[in-house]
Amino acid sequence: MSEGDNPLVHPDDLRLPRMSGPCGVVMFGITGDLARKKLLPAIYDLANRGLLHPSFALTGFARRDWGKQAFVSFVEKQVREHARTPFNQATFDQLAHGMRFVAGSFGDASAYDRLAQTVRELDESYGTGGNHAFYLSIPPHWFGPVCENLAASGLARDRAGAPTWRRAVIEKPFGHNLASAKELNATVQKVFPEDSIFRIDHYLGKETVQNIMALRFSNTILEPLWSANYVDHVQITMAETMGIGSRAGYYDGIGAARDVIQNHLLQLLALTAMEEPASLDAADLRAEKEKVLSAVRLPANLGEHTARGRYGPGRQAGRQVVGYTDEEGVEPDSTTETYAALRLDIANRRWAGVPFYLRTGKRLGKRVTEIALVFKASGHQPFPMPFTSEQDRNALVIRIQPDEGITLRFGSKVPGTTHQIRDVTMDFDYGEAFTENSPEAYERLILDVLRGEPPLFPRQREVELSWEILDPVLAFWEKQGPPEEYRPGLWGPDSADLMLAHDGRTWRIP
Ligand code: BG6
Repeated sequence: MSEGDNPLVHPDDLRLPRMSGPCGVVMFGITGDLARKKLLPAIYDLANRGLLHPSFALTGFARRDWGKQAFVSFVEKQVREHARTPFNQATFDQLAHGMRFVAGSFGDASAYDRLAQTVRELDESYGTGGNHAFYLSIPPHWFGPVCENLAASGLARDRAGAPTWRRAVIEKPFGHNLASAKELNATVQKVFPEDSIFRIDHYLGKETVQNIMALRFSNTILEPLWSANYVDHVQITMAETMGIGSRAGYYDGIGAARDVIQNHLLQLLALTAMEEPASLDAADLRAEKEKVLSAVRLPANLGEHTARGRYGPGRQAGRQVVGYTDEEGVEPDSTTETYAALRLDIANRRWAGVPFYLRTGKRLGKRVTEIALVFKASGHQPFPMPFTSEQDRNALVIRIQPDEGITLRFGSKVPGTTHQIRDVTMDFDYGEAFTENSPEAYERLILDVLRGEPPLFPRQREVELSWEILDPVLAFWEKQGPPEEYRPGLWGPDSADLMLAHDGRTWRIP
């Protein structure tokens, strides 16, 4: 069978729900960590779940001396190591049929002519139909040259008058401050119109993150509680146990706030705090997120209400680990933080006086991401001390990962002859409630790119608003010298606890 024949294409396939149409992905940065561990496995998993059109093509572009077979073997290795669904030879063979490899460096114009030829060949003989996504899983300083070369070789444009599409998929960091984010965006927008740019924030692809909207807007019991009337404060935590591993090249000079708060945590805040959108369409959803992000206010005293730290050497999970500055590739005079926390307020009627505390860090006590709404104490407590000594504030905890679900914490009478009250929890657990399993975030996001569904992709204004929030904090920290050291396996620097103590509160231990 020649490479052009594709026996599995069948018109009935188009009737499958949420399946991609005929199209191709051209991936830049194919040998990078993200592509190997997440993107290639996610593409395979989509294929394995029957969600990719049989004419789906995957083209790798990299500075490797590879032919098609070497590329296919490379992809197979990543899929076998990292895919979620079991390896299925027939699925992989079908996918491999549509794989191509173009050798070249990002700045080499002639390589893009070869790429254009490959893409044309796919359109003409493999059925990709002129639809292509260019996935830029590469350092941001390459966005400009790659986009310009795509434009120069005619790859970025749809064929005139043809009902086809060209999309650019970009991975963070979207700049390192507001000014660079705008510059970066201008570079990409010179070539791709805004509605063809898909900015990936993989948190938005997570099932539990999508459930925030379902929880808030498809139920009646929570809405009355979801405001300053009942909520005392909100804690958004993203904690990791791992260090930076081999990512110093990316991480050093970036740090926890830019890596995670600018995108993932501010998106979680937006979804938690925004008003109900008029519809689930991208325009309505993004408008609500932008509205609430524009209402975010920084604390007056950044010294008291922010904290940053970096992990020192120590023991974690029974083994010795090096401190951040001893990690391979970290600059000796680095002032990069691996822990960041800050208080944000939201200047609107719903949230007036309700602080949102955001924190993230590496080498902390536990891998966990959660959003905890901690409720106010009741104005009157008929059960006197010591009966309530074992009771804390009521809380609703949205458990984003890894133990996905929702917990409601409230006090209950301890069985016995006294009025002792103790905290108990009511839990919803994804694993117990659903037999369906959650797809990897990247599966959902890649499929949405291929289907042209933009709600889960932040638009440029959201990115800019996030930098507007973060820039003053980063500028303040820059003047403070190196971050405070914290012990691995615990919950960050002392200043983080102090930050909440100033407000008479404490962090939850998840
Ligand atoms: C990435 C950050 O966006 O998210 C990493 O760059 C971090 O530093 C990762 O480790 C965490 O993702 P997840 O899905 O494991 O919470």
